[in-house]
Amino acid sequence: MCGIFGCIVKDGNAAPVIHAALKRLEYRGYDSVGEATLHESSLHIKKDQGKIDEVHKIHNLDDLPGNIGIGHTRWATHGAPLQVNAHPHLDCDGQIAIVHNGIIENFSELKQELENLGHVFKSKTDTEVIVHLIEHVWKTKPSLSLADAVLEAVKRLEGSYAIAVISPKEPNKIVCARYESPLVVGVNENAVYCASDIPAFLPLTNKAVIINDGELVILSPQGYEIRKIADSSLVTREPKILDWTPEMAVKQGYPHFMLKEIHEQPATLRNTLRLQEHYLDLMTTFLDRAHEVFLVACGTSYHACLAASYMFSKLAFLATYPIIASEFMEQHGKSVNIDSTILAVSQSGETADTLAAVNCARQRAATILGLTNVIGSTLTRISRVYIGQQSGPEIGVAATKTFTSQLSVLSQLALRLAKKRGKISQDEMDFLAEKMENLPDVVDEIIQTQEEKVKQIAKKYKDAKTFFFLGRGISTATAYEGRLKLMEIAYVPAIAFPAGESKHGPISLIEPGFPVVFICPKDDTHKTLIGNIMEMKARGASIIAIMEEGDEEIKKLADDYVEIPKGVPEVLSPIPYIIPLQLLAYYMAIERGHNPDTPRNLAKSVTVK
Ligand code: M6R
Repeated sequence: MCGIFGCIVKDGNAAPVIHAALKRLEYRGYDSVGEATLHESSLHIKKDQGKIDEVHKIHNLDDLPGNIGIGHTRWATHGAPLQVNAHPHLDCDGQIAIVHNGIIENFSELKQELENLGHVFKSKTDTEVIVHLIEHVWKTKPSLSLADAVLEAVKRLEGSYAIAVISPKEPNKIVCARYESPLVVGVNENAVYCASDIPAFLPLTNKAVIINDGELVILSPQGYEIRKIADSSLVTREPKILDWTPEMAVKQGYPHFMLKEIHEQPATLRNTLRLQEHYLDLMTTFLDRAHEVFLVACGTSYHACLAASYMFSKLAFLATYPIIASEFMEQHGKSVNIDSTILAVSQSGETADTLAAVNCARQRAATILGLTNVIGSTLTRISRVYIGQQSGPEIGVAATKTFTSQLSVLSQLALRLAKKRGKISQDEMDFLAEKMENLPDVVDEIIQTQEEKVKQIAKKYKDAKTFFFLGRGISTATAYEGRLKLMEIAYVPAIAFPAGESKHGPISLIEPGFPVVFICPKDDTHKTLIGNIMEMKARGASIIAIMEEGDEEIKKLADDYVEIPKGVPEVLSPIPYIIPLQLLAYYMAIERGHNPDTPRNLAKSVTVK
């Protein structure tokens, strides 16, 4: 996701300090970069698309004048990665500059309102509304300080933000504010810094102040002052002394990116619930009109498609065909036509097999829809409509947070389509929408309460030669994904299939102690699944159940179990039920001495067929 940075230095220029800090934020992933400084009553700005080194080569990021400034690395969410969309953004008069990390949900309404008041927007970003809003507040009440204008403006925002704002009208200040996007302040005798992340200033100081949601900070040459946004009251907080190495700081104290990314899921799921309505509506319209819909993807993204095929069928009564991208041309290359719709799902948006399938379908005049995490990727360029899943960059090779975000977007689409087609009552709609909103908390609870249990299960089964992963209905997709995670990260051969298939062959592999993971939410398949568990148990298998909290029937049959909070609707169940399986793969890898972030023979983005 985007990185923000700001600093006030006592001696020298801010620009080279900002440039170096942005380099240290590169690991967060980005597509554009920019800086703004204050000098002699004016703002000085440089920004462009591209990597920091490329932008520096063209624009020289170090020669902006002044000892105070802000900087940004942008990971596009609203608007393509172009110079005009790069931060900092300015108000109409060029008197206020802002950098922002987060997503403003109500930006369309705010933009309309501000345009009606005469504000002129240059970019397609959600960020630009914030700076115009600050301008509007400040012009309406000129007696306010910059901090008070920011404070009033951010009260209008819905969504997430960490911002840093400067203005030549108050040349000795940086005003920052935070809600659901990270913000930290660093201090030493020579400077004060603000940043998205500690690594940005770690080589300069080990004294950090964590800023909480709903707080505003005013940086000045004297230090920092924290206020609550709600009532403007002062908050006293002393800096903490950090003993992190730069490597630990990048992983935010986690030993591996994979574990960090598993833990990020409550936050990434919240982001995915902040998608712009009109993109969801547009894609829903295309899906509604389609004669046949293929859900095309590879690996984990394919498993999201498989789960989505159950969602579309159960909620919207739409039959869709999940297809592994590398098979698409062989299987459907001749039949796909102008009436076909392809929804391609790819975290990277660059997977060669997925793009090849899409290109084949395009040549035959099919409609292409895309779901990806990388705005500006090839998939976004060749899709008629695309949605950015907004999970932030995923560094671990194993897809974890991006899988649950894909599921969240796909379930939102299924729900909208159900509504559009009149297949769902208002009550059901409201019920599912509320359950969706609640999912980030459910996932958080699973991580908080079940991680230790999963760790112990991994210890117990660390030497197992093979695993089975079984589920019925939509949980078949969860089983496939659990198996892929374990194989790719812990190198344990594993088999997954719909539980009903066991007696058609695979059960012959079972012998005493063979670990079989059952995914058993309390849905319509529960009763039949119990029969499948008993078949396995009768042959000596060790049953590991991912089950609903307090499910006594399953508990009696299981050798080990992990509990998922009650009340998750069937169509949403893959989101919480995959969490223990991601953790299982992670801890099995650790037990077996493998680095989960860099599994052998695998690349994060597979750009060859
Ligand atoms: O970027 P994509 O979603 O298109 O990538 C698809 C697969 O290569 C990817 O999901 C892969 O299977 C991961 N290693 C899974 O953890």
